[in-house]
Amino acid sequence: MTTDAAADQTDGSPEFDTSVAHVARVYNYWLGGTDNFAADRAAAEQAMAAYPDIAASARSNRALLRRAVGHLAGEAGIRQFLDIGTGIPSANNTHEVAQAVAPDARIVYVDNDPVVLAHARTLLKSSQDGATDYLDADLRTADQILAGAAETLDFSQPVAIMLMAILQHISDEDDPYAIVGRLLSAVPAGSYLALSHPARDIEPEKMAAMAERLNQMMAEKVTFRAEGEVARFFDGLELLEPGLVNAPNWRPGSAEEARRPAALWVGVARKP
Ligand SMILES: C[S@@+](CC[C@H](N)C(=O)[O-])C[C@H]1O[C@@H](n2cnc3c(N)ncnc32)[C@H](O)[C@@H]1O
Repeated sequence: MTTDAAADQTDGSPEFDTSVAHVARVYNYWLGGTDNFAADRAAAEQAMAAYPDIAASARSNRALLRRAVGHLAGEAGIRQFLDIGTGIPSANNTHEVAQAVAPDARIVYVDNDPVVLAHARTLLKSSQDGATDYLDADLRTADQILAGAAETLDFSQPVAIMLMAILQHISDEDDPYAIVGRLLSAVPAGSYLALSHPARDIEPEKMAAMAERLNQMMAEKVTFRAEGEVARFFDGLELLEPGLVNAPNWRPGSAEEARRPAALWVGVARKP
C-alpha cells in the first residue's frame, strides 16, 4: 500500500464499526490514547475490572517493543523489520526506534484494522535513507503479506519478524504455529523473531476472567497461552538472553521497570 492509498481511505469514509469493540482501539485506551469509541472503552474497562494491571501490562509491552527494536537495530545490526499487528501509532513506533539507531532501516507494517489503516500516514514518515510501507492484511494470509512486503524488504537479507501482542488473536484452529513457521521459512539465517503474547499462566484467574469478558465484548477473540505454548513459537530458533520471560524482565532499563506488573511472555530469537 502507498501513502496515497492511506490518504484516500482517510479522506473518504472509512468503514469503522464503532458499535463493537476492536482490539486496536481497546489497546489504545489502555495506553491512554484517544482513538477509541464508547464500545471500546466499555470493553477495556470490563477487562480492567477483571485484571487491574492490564493497562500497566500494555505499557510494559510498548516499553519492551522499544527495547527489542533498539537491540535488533543496534547490536544485532538488523536493517529490515516486518511488524505485523502494528496497532494504532503510539510513542516509539518501530520505524522511529529503528531509524533513530539506523537511518537506513526499512520497515513494513501490517494490520487488518481500518482504524490503523487510517493512521498509516504517521507510520509512513520514514527517514530519507530508509523506507516504510503499510499493508492492510490479515496475519492468517502469510503468503499475501510476504508478497506485499517483498516490494520494500529484500528477503535475501536478514529480517526481524515482529509479532507483538497479536498471536492471541489467532485461535488454535487457525494454527498460529504454521503461520509463524511460514513467515520464518521466508527469511534467511541471521533473521530474528520478536514476539510477545498474553500469558494464561501468570495471574491465571484474573487473566481467565479478562479473556472471558473480552471474548464477549470484542470483535477479535483472544486465546491466551501458557509458557510452554509460547515457547513452541521459537522451536528451531536461538533465544537471546534472558530467554522467554515476562515482559518487564526482558533487559529492563531500570530496576523500577523490571518491577512493573505484566502478564506477557516475550522472547527475541535468532534464526540459525
Ligand atoms: C494488542 S494490539 C498490539 C499492537 C502492537 N503490536 C504493540 O505491541 O504495541 C494488536 C494489533 O493486532 C491487530 N490484529 C489482530 N488480529 C490481526 C490479524 N489477524 N491480522 C492482522 N492484524 C491483526 C489489531 O488490529 C491490533 O492493531
